[in-house]
Amino acid sequence: DTDALVDRYGRVAHDLRVSVTEKCSLRCTYCMPAEGLPAIPRDDLLTPAEIGRLVGIGYRLGIRDVRFTGGEPLMRPDLAEIVRRSRAAAPGVRISMTTNAIGLDKRVGELVDAGLDRVNVSLDSIDRRHFAELTRRDRLPQVLAGIRAALDAGLSPVKLNAVLMPETLAGAADLLAWAVEHGCRLRFIEQMPLDADQNWDRAQLVSAERLLDVLGERFDLTPVGREDPSAPAEEWAVDGGPATVGIIASVTRSFCGDCDRTRLTAEGTVRSCLFGNEEVDLRALLRSGGATGSAGAPGTHVPDGGASDAQIVAAWQAAMWAKPFAHGLDRGAP
Ligand code: GTP
Ligand code: 5AD
Ligand code: SF4
Repeated sequence: DTDALVDRYGRVAHDLRVSVTEKCSLRCTYCMPAEGLPAIPRDDLLTPAEIGRLVGIGYRLGIRDVRFTGGEPLMRPDLAEIVRRSRAAAPGVRISMTTNAIGLDKRVGELVDAGLDRVNVSLDSIDRRHFAELTRRDRLPQVLAGIRAALDAGLSPVKLNAVLMPETLAGAADLLAWAVEHGCRLRFIEQMPLDADQNWDRAQLVSAERLLDVLGERFDLTPVGREDPSAPAEEWAVDGGPATVGIIASVTRSFCGDCDRTRLTAEGTVRSCLFGNEEVDLRALLRSGGATGSAGAPGTHVPDGGASDAQIVAAWQAAMWAKPFAHGLDRGAP
């Protein structure tokens, strides 16, 4: 198939995740060291025009969902411009972002106007002290203001992501009660070894099974399956519904076999998998030929560089062909 992103195991990418920055306003312990990640030089970040061009190419290759991630996407002052250019290049995609919601109350209007359809908000605890411990920042009130603004702007459904840690488990039932009351769709996520500090330990994992035991003490949960076959979350109806709670059991019930994702890093490399380490540099192609120099400044228009769409397509397809079959995190589990 020459007009799709297919891997050697026959999986087809319909979902594109674009990281737009390494910066973040929080320092979640499972994600970042206390001092944050090394800064990416500004000129190395893809510009809104470059992101728009790649989203357009992805769209013609069958991408139907585009999700902006980080770091924290709201750390980019030009995020609305990124959304606007992506929307223009790919009118038929759903555009969403995964955010910690800090500052979203002030920007949700411009983002919706630019074409944003949905947000998922990372929220691990509804207890202010626990939140501050997990994120190393006392900013729960700002997060809640952001969530309220998203709901008021009609961004629906608002999904909440909570990474399962011992601290999250203790407050899991309270978090679910809060989500149900506020009409948000909460999902719990098994922790994966994605942190810079490499503190992940399979033996310490809080599993989906443990969580279900804990939630079962307070709620009546009925399994309702997945939203669609490639969705990472399995859902349970809460107290007879319509509210649901999801669990993304990335480790103990991995869903790699149905993965339909491809990713771009903030610097324009393709990562076919969260745990892949291939480096296919689309930015180099975008900027080859005449389009260097001024091309780095976010917000400036980048004239199409030396590489044609066909060359970019070929490089992206080659990266997909190298996508690993599975992450294998649960190998050797007890
Ligand atoms: P929706 O379409 O709104 O349901 O989004 P999503 O769940 O795909 O996206 P989100 O950014 O909210 O991701 C939620 C969680 O899914 C992340 O925290 C990861 O734990 C997990 N996840 C996302 N992408 C991948 C992936 O490619 N591989 C694995 N193993 N897990 C992933
Ligand atoms: N394991 C699982 N999920 C993680 N996230 C960040 N780090 C990890 C990890 N180590 C989640 C965040 C965010 C989503 C994009 O990824 O909570 O919601
Ligand atoms: Fe920031 Fe998200 Fe990482 Fe937390 S998980 S530090 S909110 S990028």
